[in-house]
Order: sequence, then structure tokens, then C-alpha cells
Amino acid sequence: MRIFKYILAFLVFGGFNDLNAQTNALYIPPTLSGTTFDLNMQHGTHEYYPGTPTASMGFNGDILGPTLVIDKNDDITINVTNSLGEETTVHWHGFRVSPDNDGGPHTVIDPNTTWSPAFEMLNNAATYWYHPHLHHRTLKQVNLGLSGMIIVKDPVEAALNLPRTYGVDDFPLIVQTKTILADTVYYFTTDNGNGAQVSRLDSTVVVNATVNAALDVPKQVVRLRVLNAADHRVFNLGLSNGANFSQIASDGGLLESPVSLNRLRLVPGERAEILVDLGTMSVGSSLTLKSYGSELPDGFWGAQNARIPPEGSPFGYDDNLLNGSDFDVLTLNVIGQTGTPVTTIPNSLVTINRTPETEADLTRTKYFLATGSACPQISSTPSASSSNCFDINVVNDEILWNATEIWELHGDPIQYHPFHIHDIQFFILDRDGNPPPANEMGWKDMVSVGPGEVVRFIGTFDEFVGTTPYMYHCHILPHEDKGMMQQFTVEQELYVDKNYTGVEKGSLNQPYNTIREALNVAFEGIQLNILSTGSHNEAPPDLLFSKEIELILHNPPVIIE
Ligand code: C2O
Ligand code: CU
Ligand code: CU
Repeated sequence: MRIFKYILAFLVFGGFNDLNAQTNALYIPPTLSGTTFDLNMQHGTHEYYPGTPTASMGFNGDILGPTLVIDKNDDITINVTNSLGEETTVHWHGFRVSPDNDGGPHTVIDPNTTWSPAFEMLNNAATYWYHPHLHHRTLKQVNLGLSGMIIVKDPVEAALNLPRTYGVDDFPLIVQTKTILADTVYYFTTDNGNGAQVSRLDSTVVVNATVNAALDVPKQVVRLRVLNAADHRVFNLGLSNGANFSQIASDGGLLESPVSLNRLRLVPGERAEILVDLGTMSVGSSLTLKSYGSELPDGFWGAQNARIPPEGSPFGYDDNLLNGSDFDVLTLNVIGQTGTPVTTIPNSLVTINRTPETEADLTRTKYFLATGSACPQISSTPSASSSNCFDINVVNDEILWNATEIWELHGDPIQYHPFHIHDIQFFILDRDGNPPPANEMGWKDMVSVGPGEVVRFIGTFDEFVGTTPYMYHCHILPHEDKGMMQQFTVEQELYVDKNYTGVEKGSLNQPYNTIREALNVAFEGIQLNILSTGSHNEAPPDLLFSKEIELILHNPPVIIE
């Protein structure tokens, strides 16, 4: 079977990149910094294989996008111009931004228009990314090249002795696998079934759009900001010389202290910053960052079996040479030290105040259901139902502003799904009742949910309110495009004019099904003029009541007397 797979790969692809030397200099995207960022989304061509141009999409160029470098607490404006000739959106993955600035599927950028979100950068120093999020078209647009990295800086991070010279000792690594046949990068959209099958032959490994990538790294401590921007694939990263490396940051910030690892499993959408100490390597030697797919448990995309046996893997999976294999990601060629090298790894980094479980106001339970109904879904009920298919006009969860919630995620019995939620950074509480490993104790916006696993996290929705929904979804892009996604709004707590009503404050005690239902309970018998409840499911609220009692949609809430 294995031999057959190699022959097939040579016939189809003209080679298997893992057999080739890692000799192409890693592309390092340029940076943009300051407080105003201009991005143009455009078509281009990119030669993954020299001499073979493929159609591509990029921000300000043929492929990928510039790395945005942003200081925490700066007020920034990003002007995004859509020159693609088709609709798109751009989402700032991991950012704490208002729903209208978030760039989710509701915030469509029409062709030949510019969208200009402006907001204060509230996130901690860490590595984030940006990518299109148009419903049904995320896979296509990301796969053709639209992704970019974001580095947020802050004074806490700046005070630490860490490598931070971009492209010198601090490197962005956007890791993907792609299906490249001759001059075409294959992708599929939800209305193109054949493409779905071809997409599973994602046997070309690219880092920053470079095939067989190699990078010169100085003989000292270097920082790699690794982003898994692949469609489905989990990377199980390790070094070919068997050495450990240290993870210093998770999705939304630095860890309390570096965590020494031999392997790092990264799911689509997830980021990790790692330090690799090359001080004992000799100049001229090399080592390879690899993905040890052979060690992935069944049910993770990239393992020998994509689904827990006896369930078969999907069509095309067994023909993909990367599945169940160890393969090269990036060759590191050691060169001489820089002028002011970082040569040690710090013992501690930052203080993280993890939210205690006792602060939770409620628990929400969600189930990953990939099969058994009309659509793959994330659902509040344990069995699939076509009424739970994603509907962009239905808000699935209304969350009260400032609520601290536990989300309990129940894994699909046969395959993993990488969960992502917008608006917040959260803390993983436990996996099957056990505390998470040390490198998962920091700020997260992604969490892998293994086959049959139960994962709980805690988060506080304390920043923004509004009627535009935020999304939560599986970050396997074909799952997301097919609707393994739901949406929530964050609602303001309601304060009313007590001189008029005699009521000090509406009580929105759980449980309630909708904000309106809660309002009706809280204010029974009182005439209210509801300016907004933010619910998309219901008729506009303006005409329900007669007298003016203002609902304050500012943050934090105030009582109008
Ligand atoms: Cu990286 Cu909702 O997305
Ligand atoms: Cu996101
Ligand atoms: Cu999924």
C-alpha cells in the first residue's frame, strides 16, 4: 500500500516534497507598523515550484500578507480594500474587538470597496493572524493565499530578555499543507464536491508559501512564531536532533514561564511561540523542524487514520503520503551569532490570573456532530438535527455582558475538531476532567477537542456588546464553510430610569431563552421602550412599549436618572 502511494504521488505530483532537499530560502513577509495599516486584497501568481506559476491571492502582493506589528493600547485603523472581484471579509483572529470590527461573515467587503475598522488594540503581546471569513468561501480564499500574521507588542513582553528582531532572531512561520497539481492550487467550496476530494491530497508542505523551506538561524536562542494555517491538518512539531525547545506563548499571550517540550501539537488556527537554543550547535550544521505525523493518535487529521477505526478515512486520505508520516517542515541552517545575541531562556515570563471556576455564572454545553444530519454542526443538543444547521440569520446564543461562562465541549466520537471562539481569550479548565498540560495553561482562543474528549474552558465576555454576531466554529476550514459554526451576541445588562418606573435594575436571572423573554420577566407590567435587545431572531423591538426608559448600550453600563 505504501509503495503504491509513492508511485501514485510521483505520477500525480511529479515528486514528493519530503524526498527533496530543503533548499528554498524561507520567504519572510515584510512588516507594516504604526497606527494606520493599508491592505489591498488582490489576485496574483505564485511559484510554489520554480517555473510553475499558480493562481494566488494575497494582501499587498501575490501571496500571504505583510506581518502587522501593533503596539498594545494604540488606536489603530486598518483600511482593507477588496480588489478580488468577489465578496470577502477579513477577520483579526484572536483580537478583542467589537463585533462590527471583527470581520466575521456578517461584515462583507464588496468588490472595489474599502472597509476601515478602527479600534484600540486591547490584546496582550502575542502572535495573531488575519484571514478572510466569508461564509462558504473561507477555505478557498485562505487556500489561495490570503493569510497574514500579526505581532502585538506590549511593555511587559518588552521588559523580558527575549529575541525580538524580526527576520533575524524572531521569525514568523505560517505552516500549511496544500494540494498543488501542476499549475493549480486546489481548494473546494461547498458547492464543488469534486474539489473536496482533491483537497485531501494536501501533500505539499509550505512555510510562508515556501516549499522545501530552509532558514539561516544564528547560533543562539531564536524565537519561532508558529501558526498552523492549514485547512485540516494537525502538526506535531519536533526537532530532528531530538532536542527540546521551549514554548513561551500560547494564542493570546505569554505563558507564566517557558515550557520545555519535545513535541508540540498545533491545530489549525492555533499559534505558539517557541524558543530554540542553537547555542551548542556548530556554525554550518543544520537541524530540521519536522512534523511527527506517525505519532498522532487516530482521529486527528494527519494521523494514519483520520477517523477512529473501524470508521474509514475519507476519500483520498489514504493516498496522501503525509498522513501517518513524519515529514520536514523547515530546515534550520546554523550561522554565526548576531551582535547582541540572546543566549539564555528566561525562567519566568508573566503572571497570569486564571479565572477561577467558582466565578462562572453558567455552563453552556456544545456538541461536535460531524455526521448524521444534513450538515456538520456544533449543537447544544447531543444528537444531530437539521434544525441545528448553521443559519447566518439565527443567533444561537445570547450572552450577557460581563458574564463569566464555562463552555463544555463534547468531542465528536470519531474525529477531532479544533474549536475557536471570537471576542474573548479563554482558559482551558480541563480535558476529560484532568488539568491541561502546562503549555495550555495560558490565554487561548483555540482548543483542540479530540475524539470523544470533553474539554471545558472559562471566559468572560466583558469587553463589547452589540447586535452583530460573533462566531464560534470548527477551524477545519471545510467544516466551517459547511456550517460547523454558530454565533452569539453579547448584550448589555439593562438599567432603567428608576424615577419613572420605580424599578432599580432589571434582573436577568438564568435561565432564559432570549433576552426578550428575560426582559418580559424582569419588567412584567412595566411599560418599556426597548431601544435594542440585539436579537436578530425577532421583530424590531421599538414599538412594543410606550414610555421612554433608556437601555444603555455603552460600556460599562450606567444608570440614566
Ligand atoms: Cu480564524 Cu472565526 O476564525
Ligand atoms: Cu477568530
Ligand atoms: Cu471540524
